[in-house]
Amino acid sequence: MKPTELGRQFEALFGVPPRIFRAPGRVNLIGEHTDYNDGFVMPCAIEFSTRVAISPRPDRKLVIRSLEFSEQAEFDLQDLPSRAKGGWADYVLGVAVMLREMGHPVPGGSLLVRGEVPIGAGLSSSAAIEVASALALMSLNGARLPLPEVAKLCRRVENEFIGARVGIMDQFVSCLGKAGHALLLDCRSLEFKLIPIPENIRLVICNTMVKHEHASGAYNRRREECDEGVRILRKWYPEARALRDISMEQLEAHAAEIPATIYKRCLHVVAENQRVLEGAAYLAEGDLTRFGGLMGESHRSLRDLFEVSCRELDVMVEIAESLEGFCGGRMTGGGFGGCTINLVKTSHAPRFAAQMADRYQAAIGIKPDVYVCSAANGAGADLNKTT
Ligand code: GLA
Repeated sequence: MKPTELGRQFEALFGVPPRIFRAPGRVNLIGEHTDYNDGFVMPCAIEFSTRVAISPRPDRKLVIRSLEFSEQAEFDLQDLPSRAKGGWADYVLGVAVMLREMGHPVPGGSLLVRGEVPIGAGLSSSAAIEVASALALMSLNGARLPLPEVAKLCRRVENEFIGARVGIMDQFVSCLGKAGHALLLDCRSLEFKLIPIPENIRLVICNTMVKHEHASGAYNRRREECDEGVRILRKWYPEARALRDISMEQLEAHAAEIPATIYKRCLHVVAENQRVLEGAAYLAEGDLTRFGGLMGESHRSLRDLFEVSCRELDVMVEIAESLEGFCGGRMTGGGFGGCTINLVKTSHAPRFAAQMADRYQAAIGIKPDVYVCSAANGAGADLNKTT
């Protein structure tokens, strides 16, 4: 749907023309489960976005509607809930609550949400709706937060309002991604560098169509295991604040003194941080063979050491590795289902997509969604001409 159509739908509902803001989902090329360890990630914004249309209203209300969900949400600004209530509108509401908590007034507004980021596929539909809502709500109160601050605010919505202990990666790249580029982010300093993706390469995102139920509990448990690793390692390296501060030599020196599971988690994170930094250099040089090799290592490490893959993801990666035009691939996002990301030569991408769909269906019995994408721009205002 074009933004102008969303504008028309908004006018039909609320009787006034809106302003429209857009924020994309993301796919991560490499650097998984490193963001909450103060480490490095390398995601791209993708061409699926969520749009939020907004106009001010004179009463003290937030009226939130969606083109995907029939359920409507209406809140009195004098009486906003302080925790998520358990519906899609939480992501918009959470942004309003957090803006207010940070001292930015939130006036009344009518909002209409239109999302095209597949939900529950690990492509960060939640970051997209949060960031688009933040830009929309800020347009009402004139707050001019720089984009990295918007990303931090949206992460706080996840952590403090929704109750998901995620890192900063998704919100940050949704704000600051750039077309044709991957974003190498230092999740501690928030310094970042844009790395061009060679023009003859497509990002082929393949959705396993499964999301295993234990995903969020297991995510939090992995975080705790990493924290436990840091607590143990601080006996020998008291200056370490996060796994980011531990080198491979330091970790290996204490292999025998760290419980096996915790050691495996730490090993993944320490090696993955190295892979991101090395991978960024390879990608910048256009060396896809080496970059692709690191993506494969990342997948195996997530499967064997961090243990967040699943059969469907592993099968999908194996199929991809056997197809022509494949330069590198792995599971992407938190894991336990969701998507794989594959770098595929543009000339081979349509055939790759078709063969992936057939072979995955033959192996698993589910038809996967396959998206042939390019890296897209981060969030911003959309042109809104309703005529
Ligand atoms: C989810 C979280 C991110 C990150 C990834 C794993 O997508 O939202 O913050 O931790 O998992 O890399």
